[in-house]
Amino acid sequence: MSLDLDKEFPRRRLGFWPSPIHPLPRLSQALGVEVWAKRDDISSGLAFGGNKVRKLEWLAADAVAKGCDTLVSIGNVQSNHTRQVAAVAAVLGMRCRLVQEEWTRWDDPVYDKVGNILLSRLMGAETVLEGAGYSTAIKETFEHALEEVRREGGKPYAIPAGASDHPLGGLGYAQFADEVVTQEREHGIFFDTVVTATCTGSTQAGMVVGFGAQQKRRRLIGIDTAANAAMTRAAVSKIARATAALVGLNREIRDEEIIVDPRFAGPDYGLPDEATIAAIRMAARLEAMLTDPVYEGKSLAGLIAMARSGEIPKGARVLYVHLGGAPVLSAYHKAFV
Ligand SMILES: Cc1ncc(COP(=O)(O)O)c(C=O)c1O
Repeated sequence: MSLDLDKEFPRRRLGFWPSPIHPLPRLSQALGVEVWAKRDDISSGLAFGGNKVRKLEWLAADAVAKGCDTLVSIGNVQSNHTRQVAAVAAVLGMRCRLVQEEWTRWDDPVYDKVGNILLSRLMGAETVLEGAGYSTAIKETFEHALEEVRREGGKPYAIPAGASDHPLGGLGYAQFADEVVTQEREHGIFFDTVVTATCTGSTQAGMVVGFGAQQKRRRLIGIDTAANAAMTRAAVSKIARATAALVGLNREIRDEEIIVDPRFAGPDYGLPDEATIAAIRMAARLEAMLTDPVYEGKSLAGLIAMARSGEIPKGARVLYVHLGGAPVLSAYHKAFV
């Protein structure tokens, strides 16, 4: 069954859809399994894009319908999400206030100056550097930013971390699943395994619902990047169930449909381990595909380890979902010396 969400929910087009899908022949040869990439990292002309553009299409339509004039959001100092909120605000002609918390201790004097935060500032967002510690809970810093916009006479639209814990947050990746099926038909292929990075939860949650609406079952593996798989799993479960209810999926989401693998998150959110760095180098050297040390390098490290160990068996057809993140690389230059 196709969800056909466009008919039911207003959407503001911000990306180039469908995002490209293509084989990764040299990586596949090295691993002995057939790996393709779904390129949500290059699916938009808005400031390098990424997975938030797909989600924000639905929130942007809502913000416009509600007559809001300022997008307010929150993330790490080097958040890809807040950079994409800044981009969306720019093209909607809205103001943007971003709370940039310290979710990780990456010791570099340019960490709060280059990469994503530089781009957000360039696009006119106001960046407020306060608060610390990653959590899916609503933060005081966020409430404060919303209050400030109201005090100044603006009408804020609240976008939680990762555009995830929001009633419309799961729609983008529920619809993504339909897009994959159409591309599978075009290429005459079926991906039995899908690997995605997961953190604030609505990317994986949307896929759980979208793929869960389809007849043919496949294994969707979320690689935790928060270094807190229990928190990530709780977020994915909550958003998947809320999204299933919203789109009218006629059945319960079962616990076993939600796979959150804790093994590849590295020492903490935003901190890569050796396997992450090795995976980033491998994809760059074999496929010129750029991944990052916070999210995509970790999900790729998981895919590589599982292919090598046989957990992803020979003959499997694997879809690696590339969700963006490369704009952070310059802030992590020390990891690659
Ligand atoms: C590049 C990248 N990959 C993966 C994720 C994880 O997505 P989500 O937060 O929806 O779980 C994010 C954002 O958090 C991201 O920016």
